[in-house]
Amino acid sequence: MPVYGLLDNVRSVWNVGSMFRTADAAGLAGLYLAGMTATPPRPDMEKTALGATRTVPWDYWADPAAAVGHLRAAGVRVVAVEQAPGAADWQGCGWSFPLCFVVGHEVRGVGSTVLALADTIVAIPMAGAKTSLNVAVSFGLIAFEIRRRWLQEGRP
Ligand SMILES: C[S@@+](CC[C@H](N)C(=O)[O-])C[C@H]1O[C@@H](n2cnc3c(N)ncnc32)[C@H](O)[C@@H]1O
Repeated sequence: MPVYGLLDNVRSVWNVGSMFRTADAAGLAGLYLAGMTATPPRPDMEKTALGATRTVPWDYWADPAAAVGHLRAAGVRVVAVEQAPGAADWQGCGWSFPLCFVVGHEVRGVGSTVLALADTIVAIPMAGAKTSLNVAVSFGLIAFEIRRRWLQEGRP
């Protein structure tokens, strides 16, 4: 499945490990780790990755915006996953491939430059008292929603 995840300045190494494990489970093509996001190999990351750092290809970019520019120049659609003005509903929007979705920092969210560069922004509606989800939970919801849509189109 030609789908990548970009982790824009994710602070927690355990969240990063968790997203490696989910990326493996959802069949993502790879991860872009950017900014302060920790990179393998690290014993603390393995507590949540459980070996997925060795099954999921990854690349590191110091500048998340440069990674987005690289992806767009290669014809990859970039979708920011963020609660931002004008964001589309995650289940109502169309997905086209290849694509890369971006999740952001646990407090600051996806950076403003990346949001401006993204082809589209999608948000997951919140139904409770809390205003946002854990970043790794958001990553999992989006990864499997994209996989569902990919399979729905009869792709392998
Ligand atoms: C905890 S959130 C960041 C803080 C959040 N912007 C806030 O003001 O509460 C961390 C990341 O998870 C993702 N995220 C969390 N909840 C989301 C939602 N409801 N819709 C879309 N993305 C979400 C985004 O990628 C976000 O950058």
